[in-house]
Amino acid sequence: MAGPSNDGPVFFPCHAPTALAQSRPVTSTLSHQFDRRAAHYDAHAPVQREMAAWLAEWLPPKIDSPALELGAGTGLFTRQLVGRTEKLVATDASPRMIEIGKANLPQAEWFVADASNPPANQAYRWIFSSSLVQWLPDPLAAFRAWHQSCAPGARMLGGWFVRGTMREFFDVCPEAAPFVWRDAREWTDVLRAAGWHPVREEQVEVRRFHTETSSMLREVHNAGAVVPRRLSAARLRSALRDYDRGHRADRGVPSTFVFLRVEAVRS
Ligand SMILES: C[S@@+](CC[C@H](N)C(=O)[O-])C[C@H]1O[C@@H](n2cnc3c(N)ncnc32)[C@H](O)[C@@H]1O
Repeated sequence: MAGPSNDGPVFFPCHAPTALAQSRPVTSTLSHQFDRRAAHYDAHAPVQREMAAWLAEWLPPKIDSPALELGAGTGLFTRQLVGRTEKLVATDASPRMIEIGKANLPQAEWFVADASNPPANQAYRWIFSSSLVQWLPDPLAAFRAWHQSCAPGARMLGGWFVRGTMREFFDVCPEAAPFVWRDAREWTDVLRAAGWHPVREEQVEVRRFHTETSSMLREVHNAGAVVPRRLSAARLRSALRDYDRGHRADRGVPSTFVFLRVEAVRS
């Protein structure tokens, strides 16, 4: 399918830099640490890498243009998209992630942009995200905005972490949770409420083993997937002790990740 003309303000800032950059500022209140940790992300994101590959199993061989990826990071999922579509716009809220992504995959057009607020141009034929959605502060509003960004009949393919992820740790330290965890049913309800009709969905659990509970937390921290909290050192130590006591096995301490992949059609 032919994409819209390159002359109009259809995509993110590329074609009308000033207007779109002004009308769609990236929020400065992002709570996570992805921008600060961008240079370390690839080395500390084995689960996100594995999940990006799993999500890509549902990609069609050819993707209608234009396609938009949100929260693209350094491009772990983007690399699965670039060879399949003529026009791919890859975006992320973190300027440092974008810099790395652009260097890794110059075939895509890269822009700093807030996933909660893409342009309401009804232009995109596909919208993608991997390991992003659980971070969105208001997913219903974001899915509605994605709806407005896409053409009627467009498709959304996304995968994200759901309730049960890192449960060994959050069970003993619930106050460390960076956002509200939802299960698959709750997520598909939010999608439907925003005008998206799920056509398939599937969930997978993966487990990582660490020699120490602290090395598990360090990995998450190094990937930037944390929100700084005022958790005292004593409280954290006691939570990690409980975690270790409750879960240590021959292979070390496990950490479970639950990932949902969903394909949905825009009404
Ligand atoms: C866990 S990383 C996933 C990156 C990449 N998609 C992957 O699979 O490796 C989450 C990404 O979402 C971005 N992000 C988080 N909140 C965002 C928002 N509101 N708008 C745009 N990007 C956001 C972060 O900067 C980070 O690059």
